[in-house]
Amino acid sequence: MSQTEELSTSPEDIDRAAAHLRAGRLVAFPTETVYGLGADARDDRAVAGIFEAKARPAFNPLIVHVADRAAAAALVEWSDAAEALAGAFWPGPLTLVLPLRRDAGISKLATAGLDTLAVRMPAHPVARTLLAAFGGPVAAPSANRSGRISPTRAAHVMRDLEGRIAAVVAGGPSEVGLESTILGLSGPPTLLRPGGISAGEISAALGQPVAERAANAAISAPGQTASHYAPVARVRLDATEWRKDEARLGFGRVACDLNLSASGDLREAAANLFAHLHALDESGAPAIAVSPVPRRGLGLAINDRLARAAAPRGPDT
Ligand code: TXA
Ligand code: MG
Repeated sequence: MSQTEELSTSPEDIDRAAAHLRAGRLVAFPTETVYGLGADARDDRAVAGIFEAKARPAFNPLIVHVADRAAAAALVEWSDAAEALAGAFWPGPLTLVLPLRRDAGISKLATAGLDTLAVRMPAHPVARTLLAAFGGPVAAPSANRSGRISPTRAAHVMRDLEGRIAAVVAGGPSEVGLESTILGLSGPPTLLRPGGISAGEISAALGQPVAERAANAAISAPGQTASHYAPVARVRLDATEWRKDEARLGFGRVACDLNLSASGDLREAAANLFAHLHALDESGAPAIAVSPVPRRGLGLAINDRLARAAAPRGPDT
């Protein structure tokens, strides 16, 4: 990718941004919390592009942004609690984590293979117009390089991501400036990330208490402990020869059962990773052997994910 276009909030430019998303390209856009780096949440390759552009070393699950409640209910198992909270706080800076619907069609890279999904309906008028114009779910983390500060202006996005994404819609400063509150609703209501909406406000709207989790524990939990995706089969990494009975997950020019990318393209490999692990797991092989994947660029995140899949299984993994 060479040029990043700065788009205005005119109807023509919003249509152009939506067309980029439809084509699997990345578009940064304003929300009331921070600018998000958006991609079609159903498109593995587009979602892989988010991790690549951010140079994120791990595949954290992403928040999927929707235009309205009906769009959220098509992706997750909607509940009375979700209805009450959406009624009170949507559109706005509250993200709800709910059980993923089987027919949701969301990229496994966006969910990090979890069986839950974080959904949010943003309040920013430009975000809402873009979501409506695109007409589908948009995965969007904050539009900054990994390890840098979240952007609250288009200029911040440009500083970090110019030349790495197709476009940024310049919609003025984000009002909240802090990422959304994340509430887990797949079990007892649990605050997973503090944000602009407090636990007290949430429990008042719900009519029941909300459990709180330490902020740092909340951020590191997904993808790192109990709920991360691990195949049933044992996983052997950096395999340069294949053993009998192993399913073979290749990378580059190797004979194998499934190839992450025969041409050695890391973005393609990231896009295929979860789907291929699932497919080989479902084949019933007792073990999956994986070719070495280079530890650079997106390869760092791929290796992070593979290492988790291969880690010894404790009682809580
Ligand atoms: O305000 C916001 O939420 C911004 C704007 C752009 O909407 N987005 C944002 O996304 O902060 P991101 O990717 O930085 O935050 C994603 C975090 C993950 O690191 C994880 O903590 C949590 O959301 N998360 C996502 N999916 C989850 C899941 N299924 N279960 C638990 N936590 C989840
Ligand atoms: Mg962030």
